[in-house]
Amino acid sequence: MTVVAGTTRHVGTVTTRIEAFDKVTGKARYAGEFPLDDLAFGVAVTATVGKGRVTNVDADAVLALPGVVGVLHHDNAPKLGDPGDATLLLLQEDLVPHFGAVVALVVADSLENAQAGANALLVTYDAEQPDVRFAIDHPGMYTPEVVNPSFPAESETGDIEAAFTAAPVVIDETYETPMQQNNPMEPHATTASWQPEGLTVYDSNQGAFSVKNTLMALFDLGRDQVRVLSEHVGGGFGSKGTARAPVVLASMASKAFERPVRVTLTRQQMASLVGYRTPTIQQVRIAADADGRLRGVDHTAYSQTSTVLEFAEQTAVVTRMMYAADAIRTAHRVVALDVPTPRWMRAPGEAPGSFALESALDELAVACGLDPVEIRLRNEPELDQETGLRFSSRNLVSCLREGATRFGWHDRDPRPGIRRQGRWLIGTGVASATYPARSAPSSASATAEADGSYTVRITAADIGTGARTAMMLVAADALGVTPDRVHIVIGDSDFGSAMIAGGSMGTASWSLAVTTVCAQLLDEVGDRDVPTEGITVSASTSDQIKALAEVSRHAFGAQFAEVAVDPRTGEVRVRRMLGVFACGRIVNPLTARSQFIGGMTMGLGAALMEESVVDGRYGDVVNRDLAGYHVPAHADVPAIEVHWLDEDDEAVNPNGIKGIGEISIVGMAAAIANAVWHATGVRQRHLPIRPDRVIAVERAPGGARSDLGPRV
Ligand code: MOS
Repeated sequence: MTVVAGTTRHVGTVTTRIEAFDKVTGKARYAGEFPLDDLAFGVAVTATVGKGRVTNVDADAVLALPGVVGVLHHDNAPKLGDPGDATLLLLQEDLVPHFGAVVALVVADSLENAQAGANALLVTYDAEQPDVRFAIDHPGMYTPEVVNPSFPAESETGDIEAAFTAAPVVIDETYETPMQQNNPMEPHATTASWQPEGLTVYDSNQGAFSVKNTLMALFDLGRDQVRVLSEHVGGGFGSKGTARAPVVLASMASKAFERPVRVTLTRQQMASLVGYRTPTIQQVRIAADADGRLRGVDHTAYSQTSTVLEFAEQTAVVTRMMYAADAIRTAHRVVALDVPTPRWMRAPGEAPGSFALESALDELAVACGLDPVEIRLRNEPELDQETGLRFSSRNLVSCLREGATRFGWHDRDPRPGIRRQGRWLIGTGVASATYPARSAPSSASATAEADGSYTVRITAADIGTGARTAMMLVAADALGVTPDRVHIVIGDSDFGSAMIAGGSMGTASWSLAVTTVCAQLLDEVGDRDVPTEGITVSASTSDQIKALAEVSRHAFGAQFAEVAVDPRTGEVRVRRMLGVFACGRIVNPLTARSQFIGGMTMGLGAALMEESVVDGRYGDVVNRDLAGYHVPAHADVPAIEVHWLDEDDEAVNPNGIKGIGEISIVGMAAAIANAVWHATGVRQRHLPIRPDRVIAVERAPGGARSDLGPRV
């Protein structure tokens, strides 16, 4: 069979995951499952005070217990180099920066013995009162230099004060979103083996090469002395975006005790050690003409960080490019508290930021007597409002129109609080979604095998998304063969530098490396006979990424929701959700659909359930398990419809691929909150929309509110 490269098209065909059989039969090994000879188990002991110093670790008593190999703490742990992330400098000093910080690691010959040792370890503290109060008026509130990952903290285009002075309609409201935990199915885990020739770790992460760089810095090891293997990863959401405590602790212990060591976090420990979504308080002011056209948008976002490391979330950045306005101002303020360090959680910035922006826009639509879809169409920008650049593609309008038609939006009565079904009030809401569509340099190698198959190696991470399968389709098309002739190997830092599975950038970044290296391989092979050892070429996309045109790169979408609210109990049920997305070329419709459904479901969780409850005395998260921290289950999500619009966008990158991992959580919480307003006539500006928040308004002193729907 002669196939000309590029003429077949497997990208875009429904394809089941390559590793599905291995996963469902238990053959696929995760980081905490590799059986190594002489393996020991480490269990972290975490601080039970909110701030202070460790005054004593009573290791001797624990060393006498059965099977205990050793106890690491600040006095005896191996000294670490600076990895550029202070949250990883574990057991280096007696300081306790927050509740749940690691103060010791008990290592034993079995998990049970290590757990028994950890439970028995007596740690004494010199405790201080931690400052864990997140509030706008906190005296420590400051303006960071940049917000995640490197945006300026403030922006202003146009004359914002003039816009407000002249405008006939002004919305000025405050929105709040809670602290949220990352809860991937697989807790963070590492099996580390320190040998004379170097360190090998099986680690659960979103990017093995990044973890390798961190280990090199921490333990002063050379490039060929560290190998990070991450073949299968059970979810991340950002919590595994960079190295976390287990890989540091397991490597330390393996070095100290000269045997392989496994460290797995418990779900409870994750609340303090893997990053979380910061709470936000957001002030949004919108100035508009009576016809809903935006004059000024002013968005200030407050968030928290820790005393260990500054993480300032980019909450208001979405407002800089989303809608056309004469003037846009955004600002970020952050306060460093005695709390665990917040980090990435699916669509950091856009997810909480869009809740405020898209709620405020709904409020403006109501104030102007405009349809909420129409007000978005009316404020569609020609160019990126911040940079003045054209968009590589921007199909928000098409998503809104398509979604409105499919959802049945056109029959909607705009009046709130009037649709009743028994005890339920019914409402519908809409919000826009967006997420950046960038790509980053990555390297890959490709081998033509003597048997006519191909092997492509890249340090990609498959965190449950189907990345391996996506790369197979991309490589098959680049090589002009059927996918069964392509073998994809990922999750091994030996394959070189590559983008992490994060920022919705994995698929686009890795695909460019794969198509590039496959094209080079075909050139190299030409008409030659392939020798037994195969023919291998390597490529990096650094130059290609640098040469990409200056355009504004974003994906867009429209989210719709229908809710039923019982105003007496405060119960909110989402009846159906519908999302339409425009995210470039969809590589694998099967797994893409799952991604979209997952994000929308997580948006439902953000709207109604997810909330870390913080103990004001210690900064401890009270609901640090899945019994207390609620995420949506099947019964919470009766019907989800997902659609996408095909985009042929070669300006975003040569493969036309935009990321899809995060966009579908964006806007969903606002769509649901807007639907709750439509159902009840009461605006919910504080997530999650708990029953007490729904009935609090209903039972407010003074009787019925004028904007509240009829009583059932
Ligand atoms: Mo995602 S929060 O960039 O892993």
